[in-house]
Amino acid sequence: MRSFEELSQLFSQRFTSDHFPATPASLYDPNRTFLQLGGKRIRPVLCLMGHELFDDITEETWQLSMAVELFHNFTLIHDDIMDQAPLRRGLPTVPAQYGVNTAILAGDVMLIKSYEYLNRIGLGHLPAILHLFNQTAREVCEGQQLDMDFETMEQVSLDQYLRMIELKTSVLLAASLQMGALLGGATQRNQERMYEFGRKLGLAFQVQDDYLDAFGDPTKFGKQVGGDILANKKTFLLIHALETANSAQASRLNQLLKNQPEDKVEQVLGLYRETGVDAWALELKQRFLNESMHALEDIAVLSARKKPLIELAQYLIQREL
Ligand code: IPE
Ligand code: IPE
Ligand code: MG
Ligand code: MG
Ligand code: MG
Repeated sequence: MRSFEELSQLFSQRFTSDHFPATPASLYDPNRTFLQLGGKRIRPVLCLMGHELFDDITEETWQLSMAVELFHNFTLIHDDIMDQAPLRRGLPTVPAQYGVNTAILAGDVMLIKSYEYLNRIGLGHLPAILHLFNQTAREVCEGQQLDMDFETMEQVSLDQYLRMIELKTSVLLAASLQMGALLGGATQRNQERMYEFGRKLGLAFQVQDDYLDAFGDPTKFGKQVGGDILANKKTFLLIHALETANSAQASRLNQLLKNQPEDKVEQVLGLYRETGVDAWALELKQRFLNESMHALEDIAVLSARKKPLIELAQYLIQREL
C-alpha cells in the first residue's frame, strides 16, 4: 500500500499528457492552464487507494482516476461561475479570466473528456462504473442547486446543510473509493463500506473547506477568503452562529445578511468568533472522522493496509489549502 504522496506523484506523471487539441485555443487553453495548476488530486488518488486496498492497480483504474479528476475539474469551473468566485488555486478563476461563456464550454468539454477516459474501461466493468459515476454526477448537480437555493433562504437547518454537502462534495469522494474498490475486486459489502468511509470523510472535508473559506490564510488557501460570507452561503458556521447567538448578536447577524456593508466579512467573522465556531468546527470534523474510521475498520482486509487511507483522512481535515 503506497502513500498519498507516492500515488499522487504517479498520477500527476500520467495526467500531464495533453488532454485537449490545439484549436480553438480560446476554448482549450483555459482548460490546459487550469489543469496545469494541479490541485490536490485527492479524488483520483482515492480511486487508486480504493483499488490498492484489495489488489494491484490495473490500467482500468488509471483511466478511471483520470476521468474522476477531469470530472472534478469540470465541477470546479462551473462552480466558479455559480459562486462568482474571483480566485482558485491562487489564480483568477476560468470565468473571471476568460468570461462566463467560455467557462461554460470549457467545463462542458472537460466533462466530455472525462467520459472519454471512462470509455476505456473494459466492458466487464463499464456498466457498473457508469451506473455509479452517473448517479454521483446527478447528485453533485442536486447538491450544487441546493447550495444556491440556500443562499436566499433565511432558515437552513444543520441537517439540511449536511445533506447538501453530502450531495455536492461527499458522494464524489465516496464513489471514487467505491469505484476503485470495485475494479480491485472487492466484495459488494466491502465496496459499500468504502463508500460509507468516503461519505463521512467527505462531510469532514467540506466542513474544513467551509472553515477555511472563513478563517483560512489567504496566502495558502488559493481561493478568496470570505467568499461564502459575501454570498450568504448557509455553511455550518452561519447556522451555528445563528443558533447560538443571543438576541443582540442574532439581530446584528441578520442585518449583515440583508445589507452588504463594506466590512461585512470582518463583522461576520467577529460574530463567528463570539459564538465559538472554532470548537464547533472541531467537534463536527471529529464526529465525521470517527464515523468514517468505523466504516473503514469494518472492511475485511489487514488493518496495516489501511494506513495510507487513515493518514489521508487526517491530512484532509487539517489541511490549510
Ligand atoms: C474543492 O475541492 C471543491 C470542494 C468540494 C470543496 P478540492 O479542495 O479538492 O480542490 P483542488 O482540486 O485541490 O483544487
Ligand atoms: C463546491 O463547493 C463543490 C463542488 C465544486 C461540486 P464550494 O463552492 O465550497 O467549493 P470551493 O470552495 O469553491 O472550492
Ligand atoms: Mg465555490
Ligand atoms: Mg459552490
Ligand atoms: Mg468552499
